[in-house]
Amino acid sequence: MRRPPRNRAELRAEIARRNPIRRVPQPPEEQIRSTWRQAAVPRIERMLARAVAQDAGGWHVAAASTDVVAGRSTVRTILGREIALWRGADGSALAGPGACPHMGALLENCHTDDGDVLCRWHGLRLPSEWPGEWLTYPAHDDGVLFWVRLPTDGEMPSAAPVLPARAPLDEALVTVYTREARCETSDVIANRLDPWHGAWFHPYAFSHLVVDEDASDDDCLVTDVTFRLNHTYGVPVRAAFTCADSRTITMTIIDGEGVGSTVETHATCVQPASVEQPARSVIHEATIAHSERPGFRAARAFAPLIRPLVLRTQGQLWVDDLEYAERRYELRSGFARDGSRDGGRRRGGVGDMSLPASGDPYQYLLLMGGCLLITLPLELVLRARVYSRPRRLLAALLPVVVLFSVWDIVGIVRDHWTYSPRFTSGWDVPLTPMPIEELVFFVVIPICGLLTYGAVGFCLRLLAAWRSSGSARSALARVDSEGRAGEGRHVAADGSSARGDHRPSREV
Ligand code: FES
Ligand SMILES: [Fe+2]
Repeated sequence: MRRPPRNRAELRAEIARRNPIRRVPQPPEEQIRSTWRQAAVPRIERMLARAVAQDAGGWHVAAASTDVVAGRSTVRTILGREIALWRGADGSALAGPGACPHMGALLENCHTDDGDVLCRWHGLRLPSEWPGEWLTYPAHDDGVLFWVRLPTDGEMPSAAPVLPARAPLDEALVTVYTREARCETSDVIANRLDPWHGAWFHPYAFSHLVVDEDASDDDCLVTDVTFRLNHTYGVPVRAAFTCADSRTITMTIIDGEGVGSTVETHATCVQPASVEQPARSVIHEATIAHSERPGFRAARAFAPLIRPLVLRTQGQLWVDDLEYAERRYELRSGFARDGSRDGGRRRGGVGDMSLPASGDPYQYLLLMGGCLLITLPLELVLRARVYSRPRRLLAALLPVVVLFSVWDIVGIVRDHWTYSPRFTSGWDVPLTPMPIEELVFFVVIPICGLLTYGAVGFCLRLLAAWRSSGSARSALARVDSEGRAGEGRHVAADGSSARGDHRPSREV
């Protein structure tokens, strides 16, 4: 039994021992050391190759254990096959084809009885009533996940899945997060084999992330990392990443708060890639949290309240990590994240830069050119008189261009916004970081506005003259002559040579 602290230093040390939360202010991004050198592509690929070479024995995670309830079947797609999952009378895991052998009904949400699934269309009891052969698949429930063994290329069927070491489930807090991904299972594993992205890509969740190279090898990555609670406080831990089979990667806390806790990421192939369709996988991520602290046992009583918070954090991380994994697949396969083929625009493996489609870099400039072309009739037909008065146009544009350019440059320098390298030409305004497209925008759009304004004014003047004269032809002649007179006055006022009609006229 520990003796009570005898002085303030001992008391402080005891509080620190009991409290896993540390004051670890989050460093600003500019002070975080880049990790791209450590995250060497050949190293990650080498670790991935070793991981996927492991034989998973044909076992695939089909669902969370809680997804398969007694009395009802459910269907999942694995390796492109529909697989029905249900439970026997003793709660054991059972699996079979997802289509009824009678007329093909989907065996989803069917009633089950004494180890049989009762098809919803005509009540066929499977497997016991089907006179032919309706082969079931071996299934296994490990208390967290529901596994199915399927014939799988390159794998020797084994008696049971290889499970990572886990804390006793009756002393742990367990959650399973599930999400579908448009990539291959190896992309999910590769994401986890790159812990170096953690502090950069998920700064809200991780900081002070360092891979201990001395303790790591190609089969195990040992990482010191702080799980962030907020900008000031965090929980430092030491974690190891290992792969139990070709489709599983496990993070185990080996030092710090929650030693023995694991996060198992299992990737299951839903649909292999075809010529038209990208590969699809599903991620089952099981968090098995454990702690020796007396408070943890009490916290387990509030598991229904805590689980949604854990799932929310996992979900937030997987938004980013899915982007990573799917992008990795996109670069390799040519399938974009929305499932479309991008015409082979992307080639090669990770590290290749995407090549812009022809015309992409000039798209913005072409759009601006289109704006000028579309509004040209306003000058030529509707007498907007914008281009015909270049000095006035320049006087109108100059303040706008200067003001917005300064604002834009400040925004670029302060990193408030960036520009797509794909859709811009790459030309900057000389001596500034501002893309030429921005300058063109600040010139073209006000011109279009002025043309519209001038054209509307012309139409209103024409309408007023038409009403007073009763003749369209004389109304047009009158508005034209007024316009020329006004132009002459303005040119004279600008100091240039007077042109046009100087007869006094009323400005409309
Ligand atoms: S389709 Fe299943 S019993 Fe008829
Ligand atoms: Fe990540």
